[in-house]
Amino acid sequence: MASGGRLFPFALVTLLLFLISPSPSLSSDDGKVNLSLYYESLCPSSADFIANHLVKAFDTDLIDIINLKIVPWGNTRIDSRTGAFICQHGEVECYLNTIQACGIEVWSDLNPHFNFIRCVERNVSEGGLQAGKISAVHQEESSNVAASKLWESCAEELKLEEAGIYECYTSGRGRELELQYKAETDQLSPPHGYTPWVAVNDQPLYDDYMNFMDYVCQAYEGGPPKPAACNSTRRGANSAIRYADEARKPRSPFWST
Ligand SMILES: *[C@@H]1O[C@H](CO)[C@@H](O)[C@H](O)[C@H]1NC(C)=O
Ligand SMILES: *[C@@H]1O[C@H](CO)[C@@H](O)[C@H](O)[C@H]1NC(C)=O
Ligand SMILES: *[C@@H]1O[C@H](CO)[C@@H](O)[C@H](O)[C@H]1NC(C)=O
Repeated sequence: MASGGRLFPFALVTLLLFLISPSPSLSSDDGKVNLSLYYESLCPSSADFIANHLVKAFDTDLIDIINLKIVPWGNTRIDSRTGAFICQHGEVECYLNTIQACGIEVWSDLNPHFNFIRCVERNVSEGGLQAGKISAVHQEESSNVAASKLWESCAEELKLEEAGIYECYTSGRGRELELQYKAETDQLSPPHGYTPWVAVNDQPLYDDYMNFMDYVCQAYEGGPPKPAACNSTRRGANSAIRYADEARKPRSPFWST
């Protein structure tokens, strides 16, 4: 009958493991929709999407139901001989992709790093930094200066501490982060066809990405109620009607008289 004595430590360990395991019901991501954006910093359509469309999620309550993943790599390739990054819109694009990757890590809360990326991409979308101009050899140096002026002025405007970004960029950490973003982009199935490439719960939206709010509202399983932002979207409004009908059902005996 010594088994009780021997079992006790196991029971204790099991109890301790139970106590220190995070409870799934405490997850803050309950029902949230995964929205992923694969882009490159100087791509005009990416800049337009970030500055003029994705911002709508932040200007409404839609962001409350979104886990946003921002992946600044896009169509970048690696020179197999030198290991250098080759970006579709030139060297300055590689530079700004890496600065944005650093921003995501250094200013780890979503709002600061998104506002930073939004600021840089607004400039690009308004023709501030243009890929075409940058690729001209004689403007290479002045373009790099313009690019660093741009992100620094965004950081200053948003009162974000810049030291961490210089450290991240010059230490090689930025390159490491970019290689992780490359791996994430390479894992896409189906592979991305262009940028911006937007996915909701891993399902690509293809060229309907502008309507991402519809898809997010449709995919959301944490309601009702859905965020008010969903009322104005086509699918969201339809779902809201369905939820309203369901909510009415249990009360129908009282209502039908
Ligand atoms: C873009 O940023 C550069 C550098 O800060 C600035 O000179 C330029 O005026 C900006 N352009 C726009 C359209 O915001
Ligand atoms: C969202 O992404 C997280 C982390 O990758 C994953 O665990 C979760 O299942 C995803 N949620 C949905 C609804 O696909
Ligand atoms: C959104 O729709 C829901 C359900 O139809 C409604 O209860 C809510 O008041 C609406 N919100 C706004 C801001 O229109």
